[in-house]
Amino acid sequence: MKIINSMIKFLVIIAVILFVIISDVGWASAQDKPDSNTISYLSARLKQLVKFAAPSNLGLNYFILPNSSDLSSIPADPHNPLTPEKVNLGKLLFHETALSINPINPKHWQQSSCASCHFAEAGFRSNLAQALGVGGLGWNKSRHRDAEVYSVEIDKQNILTPSVLNSAYQKVMLWNGRAGVTGPNANEPLIQEFDVNRFKLDGLETQAIDAMTVHKLGTAAIAIIPEYQKLFAQAFPDRAYVAAEVEDLKRVGLAIAAYERTLLANQAPFQRWLKGDETAMSAQELRGGIVFFSSSCVQCHTRPNLAITDFRSVGFADHPQDFSGLNLGRGVITKRASDDFKFKVPQLYNLADSSPYGHGASFNTLREVVEYFNRAQPQKLEALYAGNLSVWFRPLNLTQQQVDDLTAFLETGLRDPNLMRYVPEGLPSGLCFPNNDPVSRKQLNCD
Ligand code: HEC
Ligand code: HEC
Repeated sequence: MKIINSMIKFLVIIAVILFVIISDVGWASAQDKPDSNTISYLSARLKQLVKFAAPSNLGLNYFILPNSSDLSSIPADPHNPLTPEKVNLGKLLFHETALSINPINPKHWQQSSCASCHFAEAGFRSNLAQALGVGGLGWNKSRHRDAEVYSVEIDKQNILTPSVLNSAYQKVMLWNGRAGVTGPNANEPLIQEFDVNRFKLDGLETQAIDAMTVHKLGTAAIAIIPEYQKLFAQAFPDRAYVAAEVEDLKRVGLAIAAYERTLLANQAPFQRWLKGDETAMSAQELRGGIVFFSSSCVQCHTRPNLAITDFRSVGFADHPQDFSGLNLGRGVITKRASDDFKFKVPQLYNLADSSPYGHGASFNTLREVVEYFNRAQPQKLEALYAGNLSVWFRPLNLTQQQVDDLTAFLETGLRDPNLMRYVPEGLPSGLCFPNNDPVSRKQLNCD
């Protein structure tokens, strides 16, 4: 009896395996048929895969980013409830060059803003391997450092500027995730104690407040502008005046974080496709989406913003300006060897708007990143030797066609063409923005 039972089990398993093989072959050979390249066929196939990648029951909806005005649908920190007034104030402050009042060299007074390094035209990244805030000259593709001052007078970091787009979906901030007390930091006593986390907020709020000091910004100059008095009173009705003190750095940070939460790439072709517009993506973008959702990519780029609030080792090289030796990433702050070389999994929308890529700026194009994941040979051998490389970092054997398709999905399928809707028309200070240095003023027609 036992033997018959196990034989039946064995036969069932064989049948299941055969079924899987046959249906897979069926898919492969269907690809060669002429009608397998139609929008409706590809669209149906992608739908299956996207549903499979979403938590059960949520289906395609899981990946739909809310409208920016639909504040109740946007993930928020309960300590910083979203209101239209706060978002509006944050939008101005994020671009406000009048905040830049603490430069080391007075000649750089009121010349830069958050948006000097995170600007809409660059997908809220910087379009530079090393973004320049205070002490940068020029705008967009021509921004360079002021050569007439000492290096210490320039605001720059030795790591690539990540995007603040879709950041509402990320609990902790920065490449090693040190900002924020929730999500993956909730059970990290060491990180909870960091000074940056003294306000016990989510990463986005924490980072916005901290960035005020890091990037030499302050409120004294805007405190005397009546329009800001009014806007602060509307955004924070509990305390209706601006004082040029610590408490105000916090409120500026809260308003900026509220604004950042509304920066959603919800008009990208992939988003329109998710919402039912079958023709929003080209056949090539659909094929690229199929590669994305059927290969390793979606194992890490998992959540609605195609990131995940977690850290993985995929062997990207460090920044050429990082002279610290080796950047251990997450391991630097948890002090656990098992976290060495792990970096945050970044969101993937509007990456085509600026380059380079990776925390160390080690890829010039998105195609290079795709080819790298296809080959799966780490740039940083120490990451290999440490033994922490993700199991999903392995050769994918994609064809050249699939590499092209996946690149197209990233470049245009995930590109919201209208991010300028998040940029204010003018500032209460009347200053030029996002930069107010002499070179930018000319380029931006502010003079
Ligand atoms: C000099 C350029 C520069 C300026 C100015 C700047 N940032 Fe950044 N920003 C960076 C860099 C570089 C990082 C990555 C640092 C790291 O991970 O260690 C970053 C990271 C961030 C992140 C984390 C994003 C993520 O996905 O982890 C947020 C949020 C952010 N900045 C918001 C702001 C705000 C708000 C301001 C203004 C108050 C600002 N930044 C000003 C360069 C800049
Ligand atoms: C094992 C997890 C993992 C897998 C699998 C994975 N990624 Fe990533 N991806 C990451 C991490 C982590 C980073 C950031 C690494 C760093 O900068 O050190 C990253 C970075 C990127 C970047 C650069 C983004 C930026 O802001 O610079 C792109 C583009 C990207 N991945 C696309 C893909 C695609 C396409 C696939 C599938 C072929 C894929 N990834 C597979 C974890 C993964």
